[in-house]
Amino acid sequence: MPNKRLVTRRQALWLSLAGLTGIGAIAIAKAGYQSYQIRSLDNLKRNFKVIKYTPLKKRAAAKGLIYGAAAVKDVLSSDTAFANRFAQECGILVPNGELKWSALRPTPNRFDFTSGDWLVKFARTHGMLFRGHTLVWHESLPRWFKEVINRQNAEKFFVEHIATVTKHYAGQIHSWDVVNEAIEPKHKRSDGLRNTPWLKFLGLDYIELAFRVAAQADPKALMVYNETGLEYDTPRDEARRTAVLKLLERLKSRGTPLHAFGIQSHLLGSETNFNPKKLRKFLADVASLDLKILVTELDVTDKDLPKDPKIRDRIVASAYEDYLSVVLDEKAVIAVLTWGLSDRDTWLSQYAPRRDGAPVRPLPFDSNLQPKLAWNAMARAFDKAPKR
Ligand code: XIL
Repeated sequence: MPNKRLVTRRQALWLSLAGLTGIGAIAIAKAGYQSYQIRSLDNLKRNFKVIKYTPLKKRAAAKGLIYGAAAVKDVLSSDTAFANRFAQECGILVPNGELKWSALRPTPNRFDFTSGDWLVKFARTHGMLFRGHTLVWHESLPRWFKEVINRQNAEKFFVEHIATVTKHYAGQIHSWDVVNEAIEPKHKRSDGLRNTPWLKFLGLDYIELAFRVAAQADPKALMVYNETGLEYDTPRDEARRTAVLKLLERLKSRGTPLHAFGIQSHLLGSETNFNPKKLRKFLADVASLDLKILVTELDVTDKDLPKDPKIRDRIVASAYEDYLSVVLDEKAVIAVLTWGLSDRDTWLSQYAPRRDGAPVRPLPFDSNLQPKLAWNAMARAFDKAPKR
């Protein structure tokens, strides 16, 4: 329960912000959130100036970092303006869904690499690196999965899938998200593992098995464990951080070919439980396991933020800057990827739409492919980052 006095103080701040910006009191009452108010006030004054237009990939590269984004083949192949913008800004490309089971496995016996292959070629043509996402996930499974996979055949399907896909792209992948989102403390296991079909059929060593099969097929790629919901100072995220560290430690102590950790970084513009110290410590703990770190899916949900795009963009940009300034301080961090490049194509339009129906604005470019304050925030964070 929020402290009453604090809420009152925050409400007062919000009222003064509302006065400053012309947001009506109705919006305040409706929003029902106190969380973004203090940050909003700060955001109105924050300076997001950037000296010169140098693309994010170049600013990142100047610090030994890689910047890139997720993209969808159908968009990249049909929208030249978008493809040009993408090539200009990004040093690495990750497929949004083309390498997930649902896309690669039309039937139990067939692999379809058509879209994935198109994306690899696009990356190569434009001098970009390419990420693999993802070999093992409890979501985006094909329709036939439930009927076909059982305890008897699960290991065969599991190993065959990982081996076939990693061999197909061997030598062309910067890093593979071998296992995605295997932790869920809500499932109440003492190891914090998520109840997935693979855990049920193969037991807890399915994670290690996945890494071994993948690393054998593609010894050049960095093998990554990728996880969500770790960024904030909430009991939920804290439990997830603890479980993730335990898992990473276990894998390393068993000699698993695990090289890096992916922190997804789907941020919430309205969340104020951001604790730089705790986040910084978590990243240091991961790095101390001799792991590189990648920010793999950065975006900022604007679901509960005020409607005015000017204010919304400032809050979103502040979240980018606050987060990246902590994360990039850790030298084990080698890459930052946003989950999409422009607001025109973001999964959040579907997964976290606004109640007022206004188009969401979570990414560095607007839907006309023009840079927003979030772009400035990223540029500034890269410019300030220590060199790797
Ligand atoms: C999302 C895609 O963006 C959607 O288009 C798709 O329908 C569902 O998956 N965490 C992940 C990503 O690891 O694979 C998810 O991508 C977003 C959350």
